[in-house]
Amino acid sequence: MTSYRTKILSTGSAFPLHRCSNDELARSIETSDEWIYERTGIRARRIAKNGETNSQIASKAALIALEKAGLTAKDIQCILFATVTSDFVMPSAACLVQENIGATNACALDISAACSGFVYGLEIADLMIRAGKYKNILLIGSEVLSPIINWKDRSTCILFGDGSGATIIGRASGPNDSSEVLSTHLYADGSLKDLLFVTCSGTACPPTPENLEQGLQYVQMKGKEIFKVAVRSMADCSLAALQANNLTVADIDWVIPHQANLRIIELVSKRLEIPMDKFILNIEEFANTSGATVPTALDFAINSGKIKRGDLVLMTVFGAGLTYGSAIIRY
Ligand code: UT7
Repeated sequence: MTSYRTKILSTGSAFPLHRCSNDELARSIETSDEWIYERTGIRARRIAKNGETNSQIASKAALIALEKAGLTAKDIQCILFATVTSDFVMPSAACLVQENIGATNACALDISAACSGFVYGLEIADLMIRAGKYKNILLIGSEVLSPIINWKDRSTCILFGDGSGATIIGRASGPNDSSEVLSTHLYADGSLKDLLFVTCSGTACPPTPENLEQGLQYVQMKGKEIFKVAVRSMADCSLAALQANNLTVADIDWVIPHQANLRIIELVSKRLEIPMDKFILNIEEFANTSGATVPTALDFAINSGKIKRGDLVLMTVFGAGLTYGSAIIRY
């Protein structure tokens, strides 16, 4: 089989309508806009309401990305949906999107790597394209976290939001096309599973009335511990990516980090010695949307004209698992 190079053809994003500001949260829990903004860099988040589901929001993002690529849903051979908040345990959110957009020629599967899901998906998509069997892949990072957040727990609820980012991953068009996924590096450390978890979310801990009464269906987090691991892992896997491509930090035009806390990103910037003005951020307005932070930030940066074709972009992520990883693309 012929081998191809992979590129990101297009992007799209979509969010629920309801904007929940820090001030709105401060009306129901003991917190303030000042505390949240100072400690996290977050001012607001979007919250799905009135039955808006993960797959519906993701389908909107997917249709935007398809239109920008000049493709129809029938041109997609695979849908990869990175999420930890699929509408159902089964069927997959990817199958729901497949039906919603009419991608009748596509196989479909979800990827569970929490906040690292988009970069995990990018590696899978890259290998599928390079191997030659797949021509166009719809890669989505999307979450509706709000139903699994305890809105009375001020140490977690201030951090998260809902949203979707979609990308069409396809073939670079010949040797003169400089756009390319240059590398992906993926890592996991299951021994750190207790830093961020939802106990009552699968088969080990069923949703009995007793478990639900204890709030075990909600995200639990060891904030301080994960903060430190996040800085270290995002910096380390960024350096691995640079080294693998014989690049230095000066070569990088833009960094798209997972957006969990602005202070984490500032420390990564310091460690890597890449100035903050090269970091693409959307945490202030959209908070931590887990698997959606990187593709939505990428979409905004392309739409606003910041990221242009030919720019070198470093993506670096971490998430529950623990999972972490990096990618370097020439957009
Ligand atoms: O992809 C998701 C991964 N998750 C993360 O990456 C989260 C990483 N961790 C963090 O972002 C930070 O640890 C937090 C933002 C969650 C917390 O910030 P912190 O600077 O570590 O604060 P803290 O937990 O040490 O709390 C300091 C104080 C405490 O009060 P006392 O004990 O000093 O009196 C908390 O009770 O702030 C209090 N506090 C709050 N006050 C107002 C905790 N949450 C709030 C709040 N509003 N929302």
